[in-house]
Amino acid sequence: MNPPPPLAPDDLPALLAAMPKAELHIHIEGSLEPEMIFALAARHGVALPYPDVEALRRAYAFSDLQSFLDIYYQGADVLRTEQDFYDLAGAYLARAATENIVRAEIFFDPQTHTARGVPMSAVIGGLSRACAEADTRHGVSAALILCFLRHLSERDAFDTLEQALPWREHFIGVGLDSSELGHPPEKFARVFARCRALGLHVVAHAGEEGPPDYIWQALDVLKAERIDHGVQCLHDTALVRRLAASGVPLTVCPLSNQKLRVFPDLARHNLGALLDAGLCATVNSDDPAYFGGYLNQNFRSVFAATGLTARHARQLALNSFKASFAPAADQARWREQLDAVFERHGVRGG
Ligand code: HPA
Ligand code: ZN
Repeated sequence: MNPPPPLAPDDLPALLAAMPKAELHIHIEGSLEPEMIFALAARHGVALPYPDVEALRRAYAFSDLQSFLDIYYQGADVLRTEQDFYDLAGAYLARAATENIVRAEIFFDPQTHTARGVPMSAVIGGLSRACAEADTRHGVSAALILCFLRHLSERDAFDTLEQALPWREHFIGVGLDSSELGHPPEKFARVFARCRALGLHVVAHAGEEGPPDYIWQALDVLKAERIDHGVQCLHDTALVRRLAASGVPLTVCPLSNQKLRVFPDLARHNLGALLDAGLCATVNSDDPAYFGGYLNQNFRSVFAATGLTARHARQLALNSFKASFAPAADQARWREQLDAVFERHGVRGG
């Protein structure tokens, strides 16, 4: 038999867009587009400190994680009602369907909203209604992951968990996000233990700006099933061995890392090195309204900048299914869909 024909480089962006994939690291508040910020501000009669959408977009120039978070929390202030949260998640999920995202595990930050007096019922009610509809409307399987803000106390996280428990069946897990440096995972050891006892999945941001030690803590103290970002792991060979042997996935966000200057430029992103090290790396958008692109743009940009190939694309899609918390039968169906797309694009074998 002849070997499979090589994939023409021009076909790679089309293949990346067409292939089914899971998105496992998307903050729903980070999908709040400037246009929706203005629409919601008008809905609620809120005055914004920017004259128009373009002026707001111009403020999206970040130097590090904190400079982004300051603007991100400011933007979230227009989210007030159940309808707002429903509209926000509905818009993301409609967009996800066009990008051939078959599974979305969506982070939300309840403390950002409850601290402003927005009831937990509005936050989880609106988001979960959009997620429940996504399957029939768009063919997207969607689930929610509640994130604790790590710049706040563990006491605050416990209170947030208690407030959310009446909606326990509407989220599948918990995560840890916000300002990483100075807020190590071990600060949240007890609340994560309680979440595990409740049968929740646990994930944590670690090793975005923070050191490899934070990734060790996320694994050993929080017992995280996935590490969000985790790109700093390559500075610690024992940690890389641990991640490879355990198969704990990394949810990598290339455009986020570029915009927040985790790497000097996208060409020097370490996604290829993570895959070469045998790690279960995935590609994700993090906060697409702020970082210049949704999931397919992340794939396109990082592949163009680093020279990854169709073989890597298949691996990343497979990794995204395996790293998801979706039922095994769904994962098997998505793998078959992936094979069909690769066949259609003339790529056979691994
Ligand atoms: N890191 C930490 N917290 C966040 C992020 C991130 O990339 N995006 C939204 N909250
Ligand atoms: Zn994130």
